[in-house]
Amino acid sequence: MFYSFELEQFLGDLLPEREPLFLEMEEQALKETIPVVTPPVGNFLSWLVKVSGASRILEVGTAIGYSTLWLAKGLENREGKITTIDMNVDRGTRAIEYFKRGGVSAKIQVLLGDARKLLPDFQAGEFDFVFVDAAKGEYLDYLELVTPLVGAGGILVVDNVLFRGWVVPGAEYAPKYERMVSHLREFLSRLNQNPEFQTSILPLGDGLAVSLRRDFSN
Ligand SMILES: C[S@@+](CC[C@H](N)C(=O)[O-])C[C@H]1O[C@@H](n2cnc3c(N)ncnc32)[C@H](O)[C@@H]1O
Repeated sequence: MFYSFELEQFLGDLLPEREPLFLEMEEQALKETIPVVTPPVGNFLSWLVKVSGASRILEVGTAIGYSTLWLAKGLENREGKITTIDMNVDRGTRAIEYFKRGGVSAKIQVLLGDARKLLPDFQAGEFDFVFVDAAKGEYLDYLELVTPLVGAGGILVVDNVLFRGWVVPGAEYAPKYERMVSHLREFLSRLNQNPEFQTSILPLGDGLAVSLRRDFSN
Protein backbone atom coordinates (compact mmCIF):
# COMPACT_ATOMS: atom_id res chain seq x y z
CA MET A 1 0.00 0.00 0.00
CA PHE A 2 1.60 3.25 -1.13
CA TYR A 3 -1.07 5.68 -0.03
CA SER A 4 -0.94 6.40 3.66
CA PHE A 5 -3.94 8.08 5.22
CA GLU A 6 -1.91 8.43 8.43
CA LEU A 7 0.93 10.26 6.65
CA GLU A 8 -1.50 12.66 4.96
CA GLN A 9 -3.24 13.25 8.29
CA PHE A 10 0.12 13.92 9.97
CA LEU A 11 1.16 16.38 7.24
CA GLY A 12 -2.22 18.08 7.55
CA ASP A 13 -1.85 18.35 11.34
CA LEU A 14 1.50 20.11 10.86
CA LEU A 15 -0.15 22.95 8.93
CA PRO A 16 -1.06 26.19 10.71
CA GLU A 17 -4.70 26.45 11.80
CA ARG A 18 -6.88 27.07 8.75
CA GLU A 19 -9.54 29.76 8.47
CA PRO A 20 -13.06 28.73 9.59
CA LEU A 21 -14.37 28.72 5.99
CA PHE A 22 -11.77 26.12 4.97
CA LEU A 23 -12.63 23.95 7.98
CA GLU A 24 -16.36 24.25 7.25
CA MET A 25 -15.83 23.15 3.64
CA GLU A 26 -13.64 20.22 4.70
CA GLU A 27 -16.38 19.09 7.08
CA GLN A 28 -19.06 19.49 4.40
CA ALA A 29 -17.02 17.57 1.82
CA LEU A 30 -16.42 14.76 4.31
CA LYS A 31 -20.13 14.62 5.21
CA GLU A 32 -21.18 14.37 1.53
CA THR A 33 -18.12 12.32 0.45
CA ILE A 34 -17.14 14.97 -2.10
CA PRO A 35 -13.53 14.12 -2.99
CA VAL A 36 -11.71 17.42 -2.40
CA VAL A 37 -7.94 17.83 -2.19
CA THR A 38 -6.32 17.17 1.18
CA PRO A 39 -5.13 20.22 3.17
CA PRO A 40 -1.45 19.47 2.38
CA VAL A 41 -2.29 19.41 -1.35
CA GLY A 42 -4.30 22.64 -1.02
CA ASN A 43 -1.42 24.26 0.83
CA PHE A 44 0.99 23.09 -1.89
CA LEU A 45 -1.25 24.54 -4.64
CA SER A 46 -1.35 27.90 -2.94
CA TRP A 47 2.44 27.81 -2.37
CA LEU A 48 3.05 26.92 -6.02
CA VAL A 49 0.83 29.76 -7.26
CA LYS A 50 2.83 32.13 -5.04
CA VAL A 51 6.34 30.97 -6.00
CA SER A 52 5.50 30.79 -9.70
CA GLY A 53 3.85 34.23 -9.66
CA ALA A 54 1.05 32.75 -11.78
CA SER A 55 -1.92 35.04 -12.32
CA ARG A 56 -3.96 33.44 -15.12
CA ILE A 57 -5.25 30.26 -13.54
CA LEU A 58 -7.53 27.54 -14.90
CA GLU A 59 -9.05 24.77 -12.79
CA VAL A 60 -10.85 21.75 -14.22
CA GLY A 61 -13.07 20.28 -11.47
CA THR A 62 -14.39 22.87 -8.99
CA ALA A 63 -16.74 20.73 -6.87
CA ILE A 64 -17.74 23.07 -3.99
CA GLY A 65 -14.68 25.27 -4.54
CA TYR A 66 -12.32 24.04 -1.81
CA SER A 67 -9.20 23.73 -4.00
CA THR A 68 -10.21 26.95 -5.77
CA LEU A 69 -10.07 28.78 -2.44
CA TRP A 70 -6.53 27.45 -1.90
CA LEU A 71 -5.58 28.65 -5.39
CA ALA A 72 -7.10 32.05 -4.56
CA LYS A 73 -4.98 32.13 -1.39
CA GLY A 74 -1.96 31.96 -3.70
CA LEU A 75 -3.19 35.20 -5.29
CA GLU A 76 -3.56 37.03 -1.97
CA ASN A 77 -2.59 40.73 -2.14
CA ARG A 78 -2.01 40.70 -5.89
CA GLU A 79 -3.89 40.70 -9.18
CA GLY A 80 -4.95 37.49 -10.84
CA LYS A 81 -7.92 35.57 -12.12
CA ILE A 82 -9.09 31.99 -11.72
CA THR A 83 -11.42 30.34 -14.22
CA THR A 84 -12.87 27.14 -12.79
CA ILE A 85 -15.06 24.57 -14.56
CA ASP A 86 -17.50 21.99 -13.26
CA MET A 87 -20.36 20.19 -14.94
CA ASN A 88 -22.22 19.65 -11.68
CA VAL A 89 -24.49 22.71 -11.44
CA ASP A 90 -25.41 22.17 -7.81
CA ARG A 91 -21.78 21.97 -6.69
CA GLY A 92 -20.73 24.89 -8.87
CA THR A 93 -23.55 27.04 -7.50
CA ARG A 94 -22.52 26.24 -3.95
CA ALA A 95 -18.91 27.07 -4.83
CA ILE A 96 -20.05 30.54 -5.95
CA GLU A 97 -21.62 31.09 -2.51
CA TYR A 98 -18.42 30.00 -0.75
CA PHE A 99 -16.36 32.38 -2.93
CA LYS A 100 -18.66 35.25 -1.89
CA ARG A 101 -18.22 34.36 1.76
CA GLY A 102 -14.46 34.10 1.31
CA GLY A 103 -14.36 37.56 -0.31
CA VAL A 104 -12.72 36.19 -3.47
CA SER A 105 -15.63 36.29 -5.97
CA ALA A 106 -14.09 39.14 -7.96
CA LYS A 107 -11.11 36.95 -8.83
CA ILE A 108 -13.03 33.79 -9.76
CA GLN A 109 -15.13 32.95 -12.80
CA VAL A 110 -17.15 29.72 -12.56
CA LEU A 111 -18.12 27.98 -15.80
CA LEU A 112 -20.78 25.31 -15.51
CA GLY A 113 -20.48 22.66 -18.19
CA ASP A 114 -18.47 19.75 -19.52
CA ALA A 115 -14.80 20.73 -19.60
CA ARG A 116 -14.29 18.65 -22.75
CA LYS A 117 -16.72 20.99 -24.54
CA LEU A 118 -15.54 24.24 -22.91
CA LEU A 119 -11.75 23.85 -23.09
CA PRO A 120 -11.50 24.18 -26.90
CA ASP A 121 -12.91 27.73 -26.57
CA PHE A 122 -9.82 29.05 -24.76
CA GLN A 123 -6.84 30.59 -26.53
CA ALA A 124 -3.44 28.92 -26.87
CA GLY A 125 -1.17 29.97 -23.99
CA GLU A 126 -4.05 31.71 -22.18
CA PHE A 127 -3.05 30.35 -18.74
CA ASP A 128 0.13 30.24 -16.70
CA PHE A 129 -1.22 27.72 -14.19
CA VAL A 130 -3.66 24.87 -14.85
CA PHE A 131 -4.98 22.52 -12.17
CA VAL A 132 -6.81 19.38 -13.32
CA ASP A 133 -8.93 17.48 -10.78
CA ALA A 134 -12.03 16.11 -12.52
CA ALA A 135 -12.95 12.62 -13.84
CA LYS A 136 -9.93 10.29 -13.74
CA GLY A 137 -11.26 8.31 -16.71
CA GLU A 138 -11.06 11.49 -18.85
CA TYR A 139 -7.48 12.50 -18.06
CA LEU A 140 -6.16 11.71 -21.54
CA ASP A 141 -8.82 14.00 -23.04
CA TYR A 142 -7.97 16.80 -20.62
CA LEU A 143 -4.25 16.40 -21.35
CA GLU A 144 -4.81 16.89 -25.05
CA LEU A 145 -7.11 19.86 -24.48
CA VAL A 146 -5.14 21.74 -21.82
CA THR A 147 -1.63 21.22 -23.24
CA PRO A 148 -1.95 24.10 -25.76
CA LEU A 149 -3.53 26.36 -23.13
CA VAL A 150 -0.49 26.34 -20.82
CA GLY A 151 1.87 29.13 -21.88
CA ALA A 152 5.67 28.70 -22.04
CA GLY A 153 7.04 28.58 -18.49
CA GLY A 154 3.55 27.78 -17.20
CA ILE A 155 2.64 25.01 -14.79
CA LEU A 156 0.24 22.10 -15.13
CA VAL A 157 -0.77 20.25 -11.96
CA VAL A 158 -2.88 17.09 -12.10
CA ASP A 159 -4.35 15.44 -9.01
CA ASN A 160 -5.00 11.76 -8.21
CA VAL A 161 -2.38 10.43 -10.62
CA LEU A 162 -1.22 7.66 -8.27
CA PHE A 163 -4.83 6.64 -7.48
CA ARG A 164 -4.23 5.16 -4.01
CA GLY A 165 -0.97 3.67 -5.27
CA TRP A 166 -2.85 1.33 -7.62
CA VAL A 167 -1.03 2.61 -10.72
CA VAL A 168 2.18 1.06 -9.37
CA PRO A 169 2.80 -2.34 -11.02
CA GLY A 170 2.04 -5.19 -8.62
CA ALA A 171 -0.52 -3.21 -6.59
CA GLU A 172 -3.73 -5.03 -5.75
CA TYR A 173 -7.14 -3.49 -6.43
CA ALA A 174 -10.69 -4.60 -7.25
CA PRO A 175 -11.21 -5.58 -10.94
CA LYS A 176 -13.77 -2.78 -11.40
CA TYR A 177 -10.91 -0.24 -11.20
CA GLU A 178 -8.86 -1.87 -13.97
CA ARG A 179 -9.96 0.54 -16.73
CA MET A 180 -9.24 3.61 -14.63
CA VAL A 181 -5.88 2.29 -13.47
CA SER A 182 -4.85 1.52 -17.09
CA HIS A 183 -6.06 4.95 -18.18
CA LEU A 184 -3.98 6.68 -15.48
CA ARG A 185 -0.89 4.60 -16.33
CA GLU A 186 -1.23 5.65 -19.97
CA PHE A 187 -1.78 9.25 -18.89
CA LEU A 188 1.34 9.24 -16.69
CA SER A 189 3.42 7.69 -19.43
CA ARG A 190 2.27 10.23 -22.05
CA LEU A 191 2.71 13.21 -19.74
CA ASN A 192 6.21 12.14 -18.67
CA GLN A 193 7.27 11.45 -22.26
CA ASN A 194 5.79 14.68 -23.61
CA PRO A 195 8.77 16.84 -24.67
CA GLU A 196 6.68 19.97 -24.14
CA PHE A 197 6.70 19.39 -20.38
CA GLN A 198 9.19 18.56 -17.67
CA THR A 199 7.24 16.56 -15.10
CA SER A 200 7.71 15.55 -11.47
CA ILE A 201 5.34 13.19 -9.71
CA LEU A 202 4.84 13.95 -6.03
CA PRO A 203 3.33 11.35 -3.70
CA LEU A 204 1.30 14.02 -1.89
CA GLY A 205 -2.39 13.35 -1.34
CA ASP A 206 -3.52 10.89 -4.01
CA GLY A 207 -0.48 11.72 -6.16
CA LEU A 208 0.21 15.00 -7.94
CA ALA A 209 1.82 15.42 -11.36
CA VAL A 210 3.54 18.80 -11.56
CA SER A 211 4.70 19.78 -15.04
CA LEU A 212 6.58 22.80 -16.29
CA ARG A 213 5.80 23.87 -19.83
CA ARG A 214 9.10 24.26 -21.65
CA ASP A 215 9.94 27.42 -23.50
CA PHE A 216 11.17 26.49 -26.99
CA SER A 217 11.50 30.11 -28.10
CA ASN A 218 15.16 30.50 -27.04
C1 LIG B 1 -12.59 15.53 -7.40
S1 LIG B 1 -13.89 16.66 -7.65
C2 LIG B 1 -13.06 18.21 -7.64
C3 LIG B 1 -12.58 18.59 -6.28
C4 LIG B 1 -12.01 19.98 -6.18
N1 LIG B 1 -10.95 20.20 -7.15
C5 LIG B 1 -11.45 20.22 -4.80
O1 LIG B 1 -10.39 19.62 -4.49
O2 LIG B 1 -12.05 20.97 -4.02
C6 LIG B 1 -14.17 16.41 -9.35
C7 LIG B 1 -15.21 17.34 -9.95
O3 LIG B 1 -15.06 17.26 -11.36
C8 LIG B 1 -16.32 17.40 -11.96
N2 LIG B 1 -16.25 16.82 -13.31
C9 LIG B 1 -16.10 15.52 -13.67
N3 LIG B 1 -16.03 15.40 -15.00
C10 LIG B 1 -16.14 16.66 -15.50
C11 LIG B 1 -16.15 17.20 -16.81
N4 LIG B 1 -16.02 16.41 -17.90
N5 LIG B 1 -16.30 18.53 -16.96
C12 LIG B 1 -16.43 19.34 -15.88
N6 LIG B 1 -16.42 18.89 -14.60
C13 LIG B 1 -16.28 17.56 -14.42
C14 LIG B 1 -17.27 16.68 -11.01
O4 LIG B 1 -18.57 17.19 -11.15
C15 LIG B 1 -16.65 16.95 -9.65
O5 LIG B 1 -17.30 18.00 -8.97
